[in-house]
Amino acid sequence: MGTIINGKELAEKLQQQTASEVKALEAQGIRPGLVVLLVGEEGPSQIYVKNKQLAAERIGLRSKVMRYPADVSELELLEAIETFNDDPAYHGILVQLPLPKHIDEEKVLLAIDPHKDVDGFHPLNLGRLFAGVPETIPCTPYGIMKMFEAYEIELAGKRALIIGRSNIVGKPMAHLLLAADATVTIAHSKTKNLAALAREADILVVAIGQGNFVTQEFIKPGAVVIDVGMNRDANGKLQGDVNFAEVEPLASFITPVPRGVGPMTITMLMQQTVEACRRQELGE
Ligand code: GUN
Repeated sequence: MGTIINGKELAEKLQQQTASEVKALEAQGIRPGLVVLLVGEEGPSQIYVKNKQLAAERIGLRSKVMRYPADVSELELLEAIETFNDDPAYHGILVQLPLPKHIDEEKVLLAIDPHKDVDGFHPLNLGRLFAGVPETIPCTPYGIMKMFEAYEIELAGKRALIIGRSNIVGKPMAHLLLAADATVTIAHSKTKNLAALAREADILVVAIGQGNFVTQEFIKPGAVVIDVGMNRDANGKLQGDVNFAEVEPLASFITPVPRGVGPMTITMLMQQTVEACRRQELGE
């Protein structure tokens, strides 16, 4: 029987701490601000952005959502980013991904002032993370590290396998685990004998985007299993990348979906917005 990591509860606790920091800044006449740019009407992005906005309001941030139609030009989006780069009321800028195909995602991410890049997706911030001198860190892997810390899960010397190699989750996760002295492997869709490889892992982070992909054959008894998946099944029900019912009895710790990694991602976004504000306003 594994311990089920309660991401929702931990997120609420950490958000309360961030809210206290926001209050302390307000006493100095400073209000941290976050602007989210959302292009198009795609379902999941609408929900993610709504949740970010609700969290921002709950902890007392200045919060703005800029909505653009799916056919907005790349130039218009780049100009909007420029405007917010120069607007001192907003310390954090987030462009919700994915973007429509006619917009070059790379170009958009490069346009964000790295100091305002609270998502940690700008190549400069990814480079800083990889060099061991991070400023902002992609929120999902950062939130997972906070879970390891809160549940006192030891990482040093452990074998970690990350399934998924995105710039948003897999690659930054690998660097964070490496910095915590784990021995790290990244697997992906072309990896051979994945289940056998996974069975060697003490820590398994799954970010592959396929519902119930990880079954009991992937699990070494006692492994820590982190599920980053957010898939919808045929009935529209939220489903992780891990078959929870099969895997939970074998794991020492496991995250559920929902109420696992998701709330932590938003929490780290809020925290990094406040940190960006402190750096910009107080030079910390
Ligand atoms: N799309 C899915 N997850 C994220 C995220 O964390 N940030 C942004 N900007 N877009 C996303």
